[in-house]
Amino acid sequence: MSGISLTVTVLGAGTMGQGIAQVAAQSGHTTRVFDAAEGRAASALSAISAQLEKLVGKGKITGDARHQTMSRLSAATSAPDAAAGADVLIEAVPEDMKLKVEVLRPLLEAASKHAIVASNTSSLSITELGAKLGVADRTIGLHFFNPPPVMELVEVVRGLATSEDTLERSLSFVKGLGKTPIIVRDVPGFATSRLGVILGAEAMRMLESGVASAEDIDRGMELGYRHPMGPLKLTDLVGLDVRLAILEHLHKEIGEQFRPPAILRTMVRAGKLGKKTGEGFYKWT
Ligand code: CAA
Repeated sequence: MSGISLTVTVLGAGTMGQGIAQVAAQSGHTTRVFDAAEGRAASALSAISAQLEKLVGKGKITGDARHQTMSRLSAATSAPDAAAGADVLIEAVPEDMKLKVEVLRPLLEAASKHAIVASNTSSLSITELGAKLGVADRTIGLHFFNPPPVMELVEVVRGLATSEDTLERSLSFVKGLGKTPIIVRDVPGFATSRLGVILGAEAMRMLESGVASAEDIDRGMELGYRHPMGPLKLTDLVGLDVRLAILEHLHKEIGEQFRPPAILRTMVRAGKLGKKTGEGFYKWT
């Protein structure tokens, strides 16, 4: 699928859906975005337009490339419209299996009968999603990283029944987006979330027990281990609610080492979800 222009439907216009849509459209694909919350898909397109404008300002892309990218993007007002004839369906809705099934199942008819059915889940089972949708051979995990336009990796998660053809077409699609895939077996948390959340959770437990300030814990990993950003700042970027959902799932599936820290639950209950709400472990302006 590398170099071929496809029709890509992105379901969910949050941070990840927006970023994935930007990457797909910039790579030449006709890209439709749908979100059940009215106006959210249109807002995502405005945000993408602003991002592209910044890139034009920096001389990274031309005004014409920006125009071309925007012309490939549309905000659909209904999910079936978004999915009509799609070659790739990618869901980026919250981490809830029931919701993912509810969002994808009604669209299977509208999409191409060969469509790749992809989930951007960070931890839920692709095998279970494929079985519940009844298209296990075409279901795959395409796990992008925040911010999707910048991060090079896509974790490609192969469910038990994902076909070789779906895997090959997905790898080609990912490479066509200019990303580097890694292929991971369908285990809870895959390869990256499992490692990523354990570091974040331990940093939170250290903050709770007063080992050091949030700034110093982060600085330790930034300067001592050359992480581009420390684990608490990264949790703010990803979203505390997202991290909590992953930890709860892995706690249930793998065990005690993934028990969510109390501070994380409290902050989520207080609506301190990180960058997207203006406050998490840091204040964001
Ligand atoms: N969208 C598009 N571009 C963005 C962006 C965004 N949201 N945020 C930053 N950028 C771009 C900037 O425009 C800048 O581009 P240029 O170099 O072309 O000018 C570049 O990224 C670097 O940005 P900054 O100079 O502002 O800041 P930085 O050097 O500190 O980099 C960062 C920012 C790329 C986010 C970097 O700090 C980083 O890599 N952090 C770690 C990110 C990470 O680990 N992400 C994975 C999270 S886990 C996950 O996503 C999986 C999950 O399931 C939860």
